[in-house]
Amino acid sequence: MADPRTTLEPRFEAALRAALGDELAKTDPVIRRSDRADFQADVAMALAKKVGKPPRDVAKLIIDHLDVTGICDKVEIAGPGFINLTLSGDWLSRATTDAARDLHCGVSPSKAPETVVVDYSAPNVAKEMHVGHVRSTVIGDSLARVLEAVGNTVVRQNHVGDWGTPFGMLIEHLLDLGEEAALATSITDLDAFYKQARTKFDEDPAFAERSRQRVVQLQGGDEQTLVLWRRFTDASKRYFGAVYDRLGITLKDEHVRGESFYNPMLPDIVRELEKKGLTEVSDGAVCAFPDGFSNKEGARLPLIVRKQDGGYGYAATDLAALLSRTRDLGATRLLYVVGAPQQQHFAMVFAVAKAAGWLHEPARAEHVAFGSILGPDKKMFKTRAGGTVKLAELLDEAVQRAAAAVAEKNPDLDEATRAAVARKIGVGALKYADLSSDRVKDYIFDWDRMLAFEGNTAAYLQYVHARVRSIFRKAEAADVEAAKTADIVLREPAEHALALELLGLGGVVAAVAETLQPHRLCTYLFAVATRFNTFFDQCSVLKAEDVATRRSRLALADLTARVLARGLDLLGIEAPDRM
Ligand code: ARG
Repeated sequence: MADPRTTLEPRFEAALRAALGDELAKTDPVIRRSDRADFQADVAMALAKKVGKPPRDVAKLIIDHLDVTGICDKVEIAGPGFINLTLSGDWLSRATTDAARDLHCGVSPSKAPETVVVDYSAPNVAKEMHVGHVRSTVIGDSLARVLEAVGNTVVRQNHVGDWGTPFGMLIEHLLDLGEEAALATSITDLDAFYKQARTKFDEDPAFAERSRQRVVQLQGGDEQTLVLWRRFTDASKRYFGAVYDRLGITLKDEHVRGESFYNPMLPDIVRELEKKGLTEVSDGAVCAFPDGFSNKEGARLPLIVRKQDGGYGYAATDLAALLSRTRDLGATRLLYVVGAPQQQHFAMVFAVAKAAGWLHEPARAEHVAFGSILGPDKKMFKTRAGGTVKLAELLDEAVQRAAAAVAEKNPDLDEATRAAVARKIGVGALKYADLSSDRVKDYIFDWDRMLAFEGNTAAYLQYVHARVRSIFRKAEAADVEAAKTADIVLREPAEHALALELLGLGGVVAAVAETLQPHRLCTYLFAVATRFNTFFDQCSVLKAEDVATRRSRLALADLTARVLARGLDLLGIEAPDRM
């Protein structure tokens, strides 16, 4: 499907070649959407210095050589040297007709697909998933979908925290309670179980000592201990799986590759680093001191790869995971969707991995950081009692609130449909609130705003999608059928504007795959929905003056619904047909 820019770009290349020579021909014309025309090209501004002429003169030179016959109706120089481009209605009509026949709505494979690991969600065993895990799970899942849609081989990795010292106390607490009794009750509420164990650990020195012994047994591979350990990981996996299902997250059991998986690799990791001369012993711990990391006083910062007590920690595990991703999974792009506070950890892990030769061109690693979710008071989002908000409870509340909103908006829906729709709206609201703001910034959690049917919300997009679908329920069967192959002919400005927007999906999705910023897709979908509403206000669809126009507009409406549904799907959000 033709994003107009892919047609315009080669024309600019030819013009640049003719006007300024081969050397500058490959300059990016920087064609973007514009308020005053359909597009604007900023290339003259970028080239002015190199050419040694004022930007307006450069723009003039370019357009004198620019051949866009049949594509643009108008090419003008504006302001300090922008080149404004207005598409021809015929060209846009044809491009939109082609687009309507494309099942993928313009989302097409990238020129250089690769194997991408997306490390996301990564909750900790025997702990409740809390609101902090929401962001990683929701953002990571959307990025995985987007990267896949543009043709990459995506390997999802759920780096679950399933190893380490807490398991000593958990297992001992389990044994104290009696396995049977514990399994029947406490395991279903792992969070409470964890807290009980923690309290005992802090208050009872004998228990603490037993717990430490248990950790040694676990790490030594004691079979009986491993059996008990597996009880926790299995119960947690079941729990996480249920949450993912409710949230519509594409993570499955086979994507769980917890910290424990890398445990057998850790001695080798440290040995390799030692052999390469990348380690020093500091306070009894084996540390790497990657270049460029120091504290405020200027002292070098250590990445601890083996602790003083001989155990391995989070950093060693991440080094092993990274090596396994480049070497065993063959990934060339490694994404870590983890909160901003771990920025330094990942920067250091990547630096050490590069020094060790485990991460080199074309492979690269990126920490896909994100900000925190804040409460209405702009402090960390907490329950009213000051506790951490559990994800499962958040989900319940989202669906409840959505159900109330749906009941108000559409009292005629039968109960089963209403429940299904409420789930889609509630989950959608939760996800969209997270995805639509700039990833790296904090955002304020606000039920009313995220469930509003107006503004840049999932509910609004879902509503516009359902609105389009309802047109089709009212249309004549013959028109619905004919619309599938109808020529789209754009006459009204509102049609032109909507069509132009619809052609942008492929470009936006490619940009999200590149920049890892899902909020761009949200902004785009919001623009589509808004353009559609203007179109629908200004142009009759079912009552259009003649059959051809009616069918053309139906085809345009159908493409709108598909673009919205496809875009929402890439965000992990469902688009019900009615609501
Ligand atoms: N389990 C960790 C946490 O809850 C996140 C793990 C992120 N992934 C990684 N490869 N370190 O903080």
